Amino acid sequence: MGKRKIYVVGNWKMHKTSRDAVDYIEKLLPHVKETENLICLAVPFTSIALASEKAEGTRIAIGAQNMHDATEGAFTGEIAGPMLKEAGASFVLLGHSERRHIFQETNEWIHRKVHRALQEGILPVLCIGETLEERLEGQTEEVLKKQLVTALEGVSESQAEHLIVAYEPVWAIGTGKAATPLIAEEVHLFCRSVLSELFGKKIGGGVSILYGGSVSPQNVAGFIKEKNIDGVLVGGASLNLATFVQLIELCKK
Ligand code: PGA
Repeated sequence: MGKRKIYVVGNWKMHKTSRDAVDYIEKLLPHVKETENLICLAVPFTSIALASEKAEGTRIAIGAQNMHDATEGAFTGEIAGPMLKEAGASFVLLGHSERRHIFQETNEWIHRKVHRALQEGILPVLCIGETLEERLEGQTEEVLKKQLVTALEGVSESQAEHLIVAYEPVWAIGTGKAATPLIAEEVHLFCRSVLSELFGKKIGGGVSILYGGSVSPQNVAGFIKEKNIDGVLVGGASLNLATFVQLIELCKK
């Protein structure tokens, strides 16, 4: 595998208070001192400031799970990029399937969010993925291409250097039924070809693509050893500190 850097990203979803977050990070720090890989935690909005303070100057990056596309305005209950930036978020998950399916986020809206994050200097982690129905109907590539092309329309080559894509098949999220490494690798290769079409082989081909969906200590090594899988986005298994530490250890190899 050489010296390739691997992202291990925890997505806590709507779990843990600020106090839990600080406690978790304190206990996680001794385990990440030596790691070459990039350890990231997407925490609830309310924990970003304290978590960032705790993680400052360490190997852990703190990010958000969503962001509005406007910088401010009458959007009750929403959070803007400058607020996230000030709180210490260095990255933001955009277009997570739960946002798309539960909160009706469209490709066009996600496109505006990606642009806003890039303008604010917050690294967007663009999440894409097909539903089981779409996969069974043979539409996987078409769906993913549309998600990528729409969200990334107008993104420049230099901006594309500050972008991460996460492939998360909807049928694998929180179901315990992860994709096989082979299926994921095949899809990652396809996404890489779309990114190369958009941004050229050097930049598009260089975008990190993470796999997410029921990643666990039992299956993580299989994903990481694939050539086109640059890391993992982990929901459920990131909530338990010991399990997340195990994942980080397994990604070192
Ligand atoms: P999961 O979630 O690991 O619990 O399947 C992944 C995600 O939603 O990012």
